[in-house]
Amino acid sequence: MNENNNVSTDFNYQNHWNNAYQKNPLTNLGWYEEKSEQTFNLIEECNLPKDALLFNAGAGATTLISDLLKTGYANIVVNDISSIALSELSKNITIPKNASVNFLLDDLTNPTELLNLKNVDLWNDRAVLHFFTEENQQQQYFKLLKSVVKKGGFVILSEFNLEGAKKCSGLDVFNYDAAMLQERLGNEFELLKSFDYTYTQPSGNPREFIYTLFQRKG
Ligand SMILES: C[S@@+](CC[C@H](N)C(=O)[O-])C[C@H]1O[C@@H](n2cnc3c(N)ncnc32)[C@H](O)[C@@H]1O
Repeated sequence: MNENNNVSTDFNYQNHWNNAYQKNPLTNLGWYEEKSEQTFNLIEECNLPKDALLFNAGAGATTLISDLLKTGYANIVVNDISSIALSELSKNITIPKNASVNFLLDDLTNPTELLNLKNVDLWNDRAVLHFFTEENQQQQYFKLLKSVVKKGGFVILSEFNLEGAKKCSGLDVFNYDAAMLQERLGNEFELLKSFDYTYTQPSGNPREFIYTLFQRKG
């Protein structure tokens, strides 16, 4: 890594993210949400049965999982590259008897465990894909997504938009609009909804996002 660019070949992303979660209280993190309202509402709009398989890519320690469990969603897979994030998440959720939450520590851009996933009803990503600045990382990410999301399944991608920040957590980001995400997903996925949203960080700084909901054609 040089000082200005994060170069994936010799940069240890796992250490980077573990450090971020170790050094800061969750509520101070630049992506912390007390309620992940926009994502939660999009998930509810999908009208999925409560036993649908919900996959959260790069979930970190998001409060979304607790809210999904409280609402009755019972089949959740959470993934992250940071073991510390996943252990923080596990401390902050109560898993009801009839529900399961599987924790998958794995790299979305170089997956091993994640390759066993299948028949995902909903893929959710908030503020993860935009960290994959290299073509190869993006290709691996979308290859995985397309191999696990079932026909008729939904995809929520919420990333910094074109007017948004160019860096987060000290890393460069790749900014998106809905058309760019559509192009990556291809014609097999239909854009159902997209909107811009300004997230306010705990520090008070605004961060511009594009939220998108796609459905894979049946
Ligand atoms: C900005 S945080 C967002 C966390 C969560 N999605 C949320 O909205 O609170 C980015 C997350 O992506 C995870 N991450 C980064 N690169 C990853 C990768 N290659 N594979 C899996 N997770 C990754 C980080 O550890 C971190 O938890």
